Amino acid sequence: MEKPAKRVIMISGANRGIGRAIAEKLLGDGYLLSLGVRNPGQLPQTLASAAESQLLCHSYDARDRESAKSWVDATAEKFGGIDGLVNNAGILHTNGLEDDAEDLLDDMWEVNAKAPLRLTRLVFPYLRISGSGRVIDIISMSGKRVKGDWVGYSMSKYAAMAASQTARLKGWDDGIRVTNICPGFVQSDMTVENAPSFPQENMSRPEDVAQVVSTLLLLTNESAVPEITMNCVFETL
Ligand SMILES: NC(=O)c1ccc[n+]([C@@H]2O[C@H](COP(=O)([O-])OP(=O)(O)OC[C@H]3O[C@@H](n4cnc5c(N)ncnc54)[C@H](OP(=O)(O)O)[C@@H]3O)[C@@H](O)[C@H]2O)c1
Repeated sequence: MEKPAKRVIMISGANRGIGRAIAEKLLGDGYLLSLGVRNPGQLPQTLASAAESQLLCHSYDARDRESAKSWVDATAEKFGGIDGLVNNAGILHTNGLEDDAEDLLDDMWEVNAKAPLRLTRLVFPYLRISGSGRVIDIISMSGKRVKGDWVGYSMSKYAAMAASQTARLKGWDDGIRVTNICPGFVQSDMTVENAPSFPQENMSRPEDVAQVVSTLLLLTNESAVPEITMNCVFETL
């Protein structure tokens, strides 16, 4: 398969929050985008108004294995290849250590840990052909250290971190560079709902995460960045 003339980037969960900001930034940067969302009809106008030749919006549900494959297949068919994947879609349940909440644990395992690994596995053959493929995993500081009692969320993000680091190792010889981004609190529905006592204006902005993604995509294979941590409060890590 021939490489596409312009770089093709897939983003999961692009209709709001951090994923939306990344999609808007990369659209402006001129990439060909494939957005995987649960409700294509709810794509914001800023993205839906893009030229059909630049943007594919495909249904994708992280809980549905088949939708991952059909999204990847549709992307490769439309654009002729895939150069990058941003694993962004994620959920937060706030169950703590002493809560009997294994259903919530299973749900986060499915969406936050298994689904990004599945997408990475499915795009890897295309990234190899690219020669400079990129995977950017939006993990979390909760995938690096524990500060509170969101044990299930942390477990799922630590697991996502393991998948991300494995992809980094496995892809290296084929020019695939993998970065995990670990923000603390970011302004989004997720923090409005689950961290209401922390002021939104004191959190990182989705646009800041998008700027980081945009910069990472410009780097050569010889300047790989394994991890980016972003803090809105002082941390010693
Ligand atoms: N906000 C933070 O403080 C923060 C910090 C560190 C890391 N993160 C991570 O950043 C990522 C984005 O979070 P956010 O803050 O932008 O959260 P958000 O505003 O709640 O958005 C979550 C996104 O994930 C999508 N999503 C959820 N479940 C899905 C599923 N089953 N299938 C497909 N898409 C699904 C949502 O789509 P729908 O619109 O269809 O629900 C939405 O686009 C997540 O992985 C999160 O863990 C967030």
